[in-house]
Amino acid sequence: MPDFPAGFRWGVSTSAYQIEGATTVDGRGPSIWDTFAHEAGRIVDGSTGDQACDHYHRHAEDTALLAGLGVSAYRFSIAWPRVQPTGAGPANTAGLDFYDRLVDGLLAAGIDPVATLFHWDLPQPLEDAGGWLHRDTAARFAEYADLTATRLGDRVKLWITLNEPFIHMTLGYGIGTHAPGRALLFDAFPAAHHQLLGHGLAVAALRARTASPVAIANNYSPVRQVGDTDADRAAAQAYDALHNRLFTDPLLGRGYPDAPGLDPAVIRDGDLDVLAAPIDVLGVNYYNPTGVRAPEEGSPLPFEMVPLDGYPRTAFNWPVAPDGLRELLRQLHHRYGDALPPIQVTESGCAYDDAPDAQGRVDDPDRIAYLDGHVRAVHEAMAEGLPVTGYFVWSLLDNWEWAEGFTKRFGLVHVDYPTQRRTPKSSYAWFRDLVRR
Ligand code: BGC
Repeated sequence: MPDFPAGFRWGVSTSAYQIEGATTVDGRGPSIWDTFAHEAGRIVDGSTGDQACDHYHRHAEDTALLAGLGVSAYRFSIAWPRVQPTGAGPANTAGLDFYDRLVDGLLAAGIDPVATLFHWDLPQPLEDAGGWLHRDTAARFAEYADLTATRLGDRVKLWITLNEPFIHMTLGYGIGTHAPGRALLFDAFPAAHHQLLGHGLAVAALRARTASPVAIANNYSPVRQVGDTDADRAAAQAYDALHNRLFTDPLLGRGYPDAPGLDPAVIRDGDLDVLAAPIDVLGVNYYNPTGVRAPEEGSPLPFEMVPLDGYPRTAFNWPVAPDGLRELLRQLHHRYGDALPPIQVTESGCAYDDAPDAQGRVDDPDRIAYLDGHVRAVHEAMAEGLPVTGYFVWSLLDNWEWAEGFTKRFGLVHVDYPTQRRTPKSSYAWFRDLVRR
């Protein structure tokens, strides 16, 4: 593995609902994911995040795992319903106390706390009022950002407003396989605009409370056009606009691209200036490229997604394509030029069916190969002069993978859910050695 510059940020990522458990403890209110997971038929194995990895009670053990890994940063998310149980009103001190303990534990171990404010767990009362389809949710989000930064702004080293607003809009509001389970297809656009508006308002709120840098974490997937008709080209462009540009062009001052579903009536005067508040870092979450071709006659979508041949696959059946990460970093640079802030890869990882062997060891060579390829892709992009300053593995722990429940394992550390026993996998040792070097 080639050398990385000193100061390059190596980290791992998690999110609140996927690991914390303790969903009714210390005044936490219900989120849309509590509601959704408890509805019959929503989660493949019928599980919920009620207990997840019990991180709420085991955060000291998990911080020790981070320290053993030697990472310089840990990206976690703060559960909005712990801070504001109903999504409005004063801060719930007991909820913030938890993050206070976590942050202090990280700092004592020499690890930079990187906090995401919204990783999809909207307080249920806000959803009852319309969720992200409702403009007022953006203002509520900024209020929550203010309360959180008032308490933690002196110690969190990087703030991330939203995690993957594209995925939240499409799966949560577009097709309904994620909470809140709405299937509005292209009528989901207000959930895009109001998340971005909330981001912009939150950036301003954070700036008032902290000198730490501020970011957003977007999901990107380079588009591989399948077929070469004009219709295939138009389909690939439409998908690219939706996935890769809708949540980035306006942030970087370009306004919205011509994307399917875009409804100008939702955008008010002055909004685009709020959205384009300067950010210090662009978080890039990358898992795989997407194959796209023209849709069949009569399809409700202007594109069709098709599996890409010729790649190894993860347990999610996602293609393993490190070249896609390099391509996407180049594309961002090409698209935005000097407007592009430094990039940190805030999620990169894979699911495999890891299980302990007879000796209790968990060997995961496929994950090592995956990470090795993706880290090299980052290095190559940097060698070309692209501004990448960090790389976070998704995830520290096996955890509750949304609609897939406990069936997908992404961790460097195996979790036996009935006993909550943590077992570092061979990828944990591999990543530790890489970070050490
Ligand atoms: C999300 C994570 C999720 C991961 C793997 C990302 O889209 O931010 O919460 O676990 O992908 O699916």
